[in-house]
Amino acid sequence: MRNAFKLACCGFAATLLAGTVLAQDKPNPAVSTRQNIMQLYAFNLGQLGAMAKEQVAYDADAASKAAGNLALLVQLDQSALWPQGTDNSAEPNTRALPDIWTNFDDVVVKGNALSDAVTAMQAAAGTDLASLQGAMGGVGGACGACHKAYRAPEN
Ligand code: HEC
Repeated sequence: MRNAFKLACCGFAATLLAGTVLAQDKPNPAVSTRQNIMQLYAFNLGQLGAMAKEQVAYDADAASKAAGNLALLVQLDQSALWPQGTDNSAEPNTRALPDIWTNFDDVVVKGNALSDAVTAMQAAAGTDLASLQGAMGGVGGACGACHKAYRAPEN
């Protein structure tokens, strides 16, 4: 009886340990998904940026589409993508700083600032090149303000 209990006890402990190792090996899907959303932001902003810098010819339709994608992306509800315990002190594959979870109200303010800048971009992107160029700083600035405060530098 005693041995059976011991075995049950230690088998459980071994399972927990294995679970812990697994959790560290396997990327947290919330982390990879929020990073993928950021990549979608970056891709669409990159298309607008290339036109703004005149690296590619201004195309009102393409600009409108990229701005429209950004407008859709900022509407995604990300509340499930930033669970407690997924900052860069706890997870290996994230640059999210712990301050996100202590200053959450400010993170929301910075997220709303991006939404406002994207709304302005959506109105400007398809108008003409000068309007697109005028709206770039607002969007880039909103991305950068949040990264400066809440994203760890790249290793
Ligand atoms: C409200 C805060 C906030 C805003 C606004 C924001 N980001 Fe981020 N971004 C982050 C955080 C935090 C991370 C780190 C996420 C992680 O590693 O888990 C990040 C990561 C990224 C990454 C790296 C993704 C990866 O694959 O690791 C890119 C690219 C990026 N952001 C682009 C953008 C662009 C472009 C914008 C603006 C259109 C933007 N972000 C707006 C907070 C923000």
